[in-house]
Amino acid sequence: MSTTHRIALIPGDGIGQEVIPPATAVLDAVGARHGITFAYDSFDWSCERYAEQGAMMPADGLDRIRAHDAILLGAVGWPGVPDHVSLWGLLIPIRREFSQYVNLRPIAVMEGVASPLANAEDVDFVVVRENSEGEYSEVGGRVGRDIAIQEAIFTRTGVSRIADYAFTLAESRRGHVTSATKSNGIVHTMPFWDEIVAERAALHPDVEWRSEHIDALAAKLVLQPGRFDVIVASNLFGDILSDLAAAVAGSIGIAPSGNLNPEREFPSMFEPVHGSAPDIAGQDLANPLGAIWSAAMMLDHLGHPEAAEEITQAMRTQLAEGNRTRDLGGQAGTHQFTSELLHRL
Ligand code: NAI
Ligand code: MG
Repeated sequence: MSTTHRIALIPGDGIGQEVIPPATAVLDAVGARHGITFAYDSFDWSCERYAEQGAMMPADGLDRIRAHDAILLGAVGWPGVPDHVSLWGLLIPIRREFSQYVNLRPIAVMEGVASPLANAEDVDFVVVRENSEGEYSEVGGRVGRDIAIQEAIFTRTGVSRIADYAFTLAESRRGHVTSATKSNGIVHTMPFWDEIVAERAALHPDVEWRSEHIDALAAKLVLQPGRFDVIVASNLFGDILSDLAAAVAGSIGIAPSGNLNPEREFPSMFEPVHGSAPDIAGQDLANPLGAIWSAAMMLDHLGHPEAAEEITQAMRTQLAEGNRTRDLGGQAGTHQFTSELLHRL
């Protein structure tokens, strides 16, 4: 029996446009063996569009992708367009309107990828970042020219559901959750976060957990990365931790992410962690693995874990055999690297 998935593609800017074609080529190749086909609709929403038409996406943009099964995004952002315009004009509306309240970032060190850490062999953890509220809020403003106020919003619903996601995920992994806090310095929202995480933890007695201050946690992520399994964090803390974690794993070019609506009322969005990399755009230098691994996460989310596993396995083998892009110390260009991976699949 064959299944067709409707996928909205948003390649975006810079290398975003160079890494999405490799990702769809890999999906098509693996899909063919599993009776899965993909119907892609591609959207030109980007800073380039903003420069020409004054908006990152059309006014009815969200309605055009609402009925798709998933969204695969390259990267958005380009010099000349302020980063808050590209973020708030496209990514944040998608994440919020489609209630993608989980930002999921798996971190693993693959053989053949040099990590800056000496003790990185056993790194295998997941950052679960709250993706819809917290510190990234629109509440606040300027008071005259000398004062700015930014409010953080934490709700019982928001904290409970992200904690539940993390504890449930830990049950399918090594059974350990670390919750990032800063209740010593941030005296209202962080004790609230801690209290609710503790309440939800009580519903998962089989999962071990602890709460750690974000500063100490950041240091431990570098010193003892092997001790983490699932890390759950608020929007800002999770954002910073997941980039740190991607660096620990050796390259921002490989790191994938998913913006998930676990209830599946709306499409979820998958995107590499890296940005549009203006410094290497258009030179066949982009590592496509962040986008390809994100596509594998999408396959898993769409109900095809074996097909997803074939992709990550092929990635591992290819890296271990020494075929790598320049950011990992290899010689391969985006095209050559991709065609070898396709051949392998
Ligand atoms: P970046 O991730 O684009 O680049 C950082 C460094 O990593 C650069 O030296 C780049 O060449 C390298 N790099 C990134 N991805 C790579 C890949 N796949 N292969 C090889 N090398 C890679 O971050 P940067 O420079 O801070 O941001 C550039 C633009 O991207 C900005 O406009 C920023 O707002 C945007 N951005 C967008 C994101 C998104 O769409 N989710 C995420 C991060 C940044
Ligand atoms: Mg970030």
